Amino acid sequence: MKKKLLSVLLTGAMAASMFVGCGTSTETTDTAPAAEGEATETAAPAEGAKVGVAMPTKDLQRWNQDGANMQKELEAAGYEVDLQYASNDVQTQVSQIENMINSGCNVLVIAAIEGSSLGEAMDMAAAQNIPVIAYDRLIMNSDAVSYYATFDNYKVGQVQGQYIIDQLDLENTSETFTMEITAGDPGDNNAGFFYNGAMDLLKPYIEKGTIEVKSGQVEFADVATPAWATETAQSRMENILSSKFANDDLNICLCSNDSTALGVENALAANYKGEYPIITGQDCDIENTKNMIAGKQSMSVFKDTRTLASQVVKMVGQILKGETVDVNDEKTYDNGTGVIPSFLCEPVFADKDNYKELLIDSGYYTEDQLQ
Ligand code: BGC
Repeated sequence: MKKKLLSVLLTGAMAASMFVGCGTSTETTDTAPAAEGEATETAAPAEGAKVGVAMPTKDLQRWNQDGANMQKELEAAGYEVDLQYASNDVQTQVSQIENMINSGCNVLVIAAIEGSSLGEAMDMAAAQNIPVIAYDRLIMNSDAVSYYATFDNYKVGQVQGQYIIDQLDLENTSETFTMEITAGDPGDNNAGFFYNGAMDLLKPYIEKGTIEVKSGQVEFADVATPAWATETAQSRMENILSSKFANDDLNICLCSNDSTALGVENALAANYKGEYPIITGQDCDIENTKNMIAGKQSMSVFKDTRTLASQVVKMVGQILKGETVDVNDEKTYDNGTGVIPSFLCEPVFADKDNYKELLIDSGYYTEDQLQ
């Protein structure tokens, strides 16, 4: 694993904001906090530190929850928070991160719009020794990234793929089922993990002929959905339905997440007369959970954003205090500069039978929100 140097703990800006007039001198100390069991050298007061939180967009439901949870938990832990949304515009996100750095943020938590396009802002963070936690989506090709916190993305895809296998008993059937695939944003490193997790399980059935993809669109590049946009997924599925399923049933829609599943569900509602397919998703967005209850989406994968936020807040505190940072994966996520020490939270299968327990009993949604 690549060893990352964090020389963080009191940057000039933090020192200025915290100790002006206190007569306290500040030091910048290099520590390598990720290696397990290794003693860390520096302790810095975490209270009062400023944390920049860069989120991609308010348009997709989950990021609103992520941002709100992060803000609440960081403030409760005593930090000042600069939370920004970038309307899915990369340049806006770059400027927001630069502003966070200029305004004295001590740690940055970033859910990138495009993992490979934050170059300038990452260079600036690196030059000022500001630690960066990549939030949910890995930031690529930058050694400014100190840690990564996400859900087990490959497992999300496996849960979807295994669900399809089990529902149709693909192992034992002699039937052929039709399937169409809708994957995520090619600029989001997660999208390939979701696709591969599911397709590593399903491809053998395509090869055997148990699954037929009538559109012929199987490879990630052919099924990707830029920006995870519902409308794009919808219009692509409308084309496929009118050209390939005017007279035939579509049995399976493998959709990587809920925003793309929603597009597919909209296309089916407008254009499809056959028997309703199995549809997968991810996130348990409100609209999709409603569709699950109504039988229009078969399953989703619940990624409790409260769990991720708590984990990230813990990591922020550990970084600021010079403690060993809690990670549980040091092999999977190479961002092009080396493996980034990661914490992977557990994704959970959700459907109409367990959504109440997962989403309502746990206080994630109220019953009213799902009416
Ligand atoms: C997240 C998914 C989400 C997608 C679209 C991905 O990076 O991991 O949970 O559905 O972005 O927002």
